[in-house]
Amino acid sequence: MRHLMSPMDFSVEELDELLSLANDIENNPAKYAHACAGKKLATCFYEPSTRTRLSFEAAMLNLGGNVLGFHSADSSSAAKGESVSDTIRVISSYADICAIRHPKEGAALVASQKSGIPVINAGDGGHQHPTQTLTDLLTIYSLKGRLNNLKIGLCGDLKFGRTVHSLIHALIRYPGIEFVLVSPEELRVPSYIRTDVLDAHQIPYHEMEKLEDAIGDLDILYMTRVQRERFFNEEDYVRMKDFYILDKAKMTLAKEDMLVLHPLPRVNEISVEIDDDPRAVYFKQAQYGVYVRMALILTLLGIQVD
Ligand code: CP
Repeated sequence: MRHLMSPMDFSVEELDELLSLANDIENNPAKYAHACAGKKLATCFYEPSTRTRLSFEAAMLNLGGNVLGFHSADSSSAAKGESVSDTIRVISSYADICAIRHPKEGAALVASQKSGIPVINAGDGGHQHPTQTLTDLLTIYSLKGRLNNLKIGLCGDLKFGRTVHSLIHALIRYPGIEFVLVSPEELRVPSYIRTDVLDAHQIPYHEMEKLEDAIGDLDILYMTRVQRERFFNEEDYVRMKDFYILDKAKMTLAKEDMLVLHPLPRVNEISVEIDDDPRAVYFKQAQYGVYVRMALILTLLGIQVD
């Protein structure tokens, strides 16, 4: 039995296979329409979500399976004090696979250790969000045609943004990757990622505060929201929340083929005035999330479709 806790759980070859499968699912949806008939996906979400939970559910329904679950800690027996370990033991007898989101780092790992079914980390605190990373990789691969030789700007809340942490882990395994880390001083990428991940693998990166100084050289700009729910006080959040706003003026400085990604939800960091710019692909990215989660469910359940 296999779980997904981090994008590093898959080798580069396995990731390539997963992305190819997702491409095939996109192009031949009917072929997969009954692949999970009789199977059930549990979505156990202790934190709010729109895309991750609903794209998982859409993925399982597209595969002909069924879904069950809860969408908040308050609507489950966590509100009565039940542990994640006990919950997953019970869910293991109700479903075939489980996606879990929890505000505590490591909660999905704890669940996987007590589970009788594959567990997918759908976001654990400020730590990792591997299925968002699979979505991001599929988006870049499908629209850019490669995952190597890219200059990638990561902009915004690089301290608490778990999507950024997961994406860095995944991309360092491809040759020719260079990062530009654009953030205010207080929201820099955590030092363990700089030293244990980037420095340890000799990945070139620069840190900058002004997006205008970085945008002109980028192949990909990955914008992120300031993570209000991870701040210790509201004052700091209010001071930081509008630090970056990507607008038409800044987009005029970017390359013609630069892509703008964002895991969503956005707040103010991308002006709606650029939504119609062909380089703005964040809504397409959310759509790719369904295909890649379909591929992931099939892979973890060991289902092959000829
Ligand atoms: N990108 C993402 O994780 O979105 P949700 O919080 O809506 O699931």
